Amino acid sequence: MNLKSQLESSLTSDQLRILRLIADEASQTGLPLYIVGGSVRDLILGAAIKDLDLTVEGDAIALARVLAKRHGGRVTPHSKFGTAKWFLPKELRTETSETLDLISARSETYKHPAALPTVKPGSMDDDIRRRDFTINALAVRLDGANFGELRDDLGGMDDLKRGIVRALHARSFIDDPTRMYRAVRYAERYGFKIAEETLALIPAARPLIEKLSAQRIRRELDLILEEWNAAAVLARLADLNLLRPIHPELTFDPSMQERLANLHTYRGLQHLSPRNVTEGERMRNSDLGWLLWLMSLSQEQVSALNDRLHFTADLLASLFAVSNLYVVQTSFVGLKPSQCVERLESYPIAAVEAAGYAANDPRVKECFDEYISKWRYIKPHTTGNDLKTLGVEPGPQYAVVLCRLRNAWLDGEVKTDEEEKSLLRDLLA
Ligand code: CTP
Repeated sequence: MNLKSQLESSLTSDQLRILRLIADEASQTGLPLYIVGGSVRDLILGAAIKDLDLTVEGDAIALARVLAKRHGGRVTPHSKFGTAKWFLPKELRTETSETLDLISARSETYKHPAALPTVKPGSMDDDIRRRDFTINALAVRLDGANFGELRDDLGGMDDLKRGIVRALHARSFIDDPTRMYRAVRYAERYGFKIAEETLALIPAARPLIEKLSAQRIRRELDLILEEWNAAAVLARLADLNLLRPIHPELTFDPSMQERLANLHTYRGLQHLSPRNVTEGERMRNSDLGWLLWLMSLSQEQVSALNDRLHFTADLLASLFAVSNLYVVQTSFVGLKPSQCVERLESYPIAAVEAAGYAANDPRVKECFDEYISKWRYIKPHTTGNDLKTLGVEPGPQYAVVLCRLRNAWLDGEVKTDEEEKSLLRDLLA
C-alpha cells in the first residue's frame, strides 16, 4: 500500500519540502528513512499531524549533520539515544516548527518492570517491535523510489480500520505501565475499543503503577487533561481501577466528571478579557483540568496527592487556593464588588478562574468572572503623586485613601473624574 497521495494532501507544502529534502539526503547516503508512530496513525485517520516522527535505520546524528552542512541551521545531538535535533535554517522553518527531530532506529529492553528502557541502536524491525500498540507501530518509508510505502508488520492497519487498540505483546504493560493510560487515552480519543486480550493484561500490571515516578505518571495525566474528552478518559480509567493505584485519594466522581465535561470548549481567560490577559496568566488546559478535577478535595487530600505527583509549585499553590474557594464560594454571594476584590486578590488568578468556571451559582460565577475580566483592573485616577501635590503627608494614609477611591469606583459610588475628585476632597477634609 502506498500513502504518497495522503502525505501530499495532509502535509503542508513546507513540511513536504523538508521531507523530500531529508529523504533525498537519506537516499544518497543509503539510509532507509521512515515516518513512524503517531504521525502515521493520524495520517491514515485523516487527523491533524502534530509532529513528524522521523526515524532513520542508521545514524540519525550523522544524517542531521550532513543536512545542516548542506542546508544550514545547527544540530544538537543526544548520543545516548541516537537522536538529533535540527534547528532549521530560516528558509526551511515553517509556521508551526523551527526544529526537526531525527531518530535512529533502536531496540529497547527493560531491566525491571516500570523502569525506563535501555536503548540500543537497532534495525527498523526492532524499532517497530519496541512500541506500545499496533496502531502506533506503522511506518511510512520516505527515501528514494519508496516514498509513501506503508510498512505494516504487525497488523496496525487492520486495527486502525476496525478501531482497536491492541498491545504488541503480553509484557507490554509490565515493561511500561504508563501504556495502560495511553491505551485508554487513544481509545477514548478515537472512539476505539481496547482489545480483550489487551484489557486482560491490566491486572498483572496494576501493582506496578506505584513504581512509576511522579514525573512519568503526572505526564500521562497531563496528556489526558489536554485531550478534548478528558472527562471520558478519566471515567474509563476509574472504571478500570487505574486511578486509585496511583493514589487512594485520586478518584473520579460524577461531580468531577461534570466539571470537566466541556473543558475543550473553554477558551480561557482570553475569552473573558481579550486585551488584559498577560502571557503568564494563560493557563495550560491540563492545569485548568487539574484544578477542575481536584477542587472538591480538602487541603489534606491535595497535600497527600502532591506527595505522590509532585505538582509544579504554581499548580500546587492554585490547587490549595481552589480547594479553599470551592468551600467558601457561596460566602461571596451578596458582597459588594470591592469586598469581592479584597478577598480574591490574595488568590492565584488560575484558582479564581477555575472556581468561576465551575461555580453552579450564577451569582458566584459572575463575581469571579467580573473580578477576572474587569474589577481587578479598576484603579482610581488619583495617584500617590497627586496626593503629594495636594500636600498630604507621605505615610500609610496614602494606601487608605487610594483604596477608598478604588472601592468607590468598584461599587459605583463614583463614575466620573469629577465625582472622584469630590470624594477625595471629602476624604481629605
Ligand atoms: N511509544 C511507546 N510507548 C510509550 C510511549 C511512546 O511505544 N510509552 C511509541 C509509540 O509508537 C508512539 C511513539 O512512541 O506512537 C511516539 O510517542 P508519543 O509522541 O508519546 O505519541 P504519539 O503516537 O505521537 O501520540 P499522541 O497523539 O498522543 O502524541
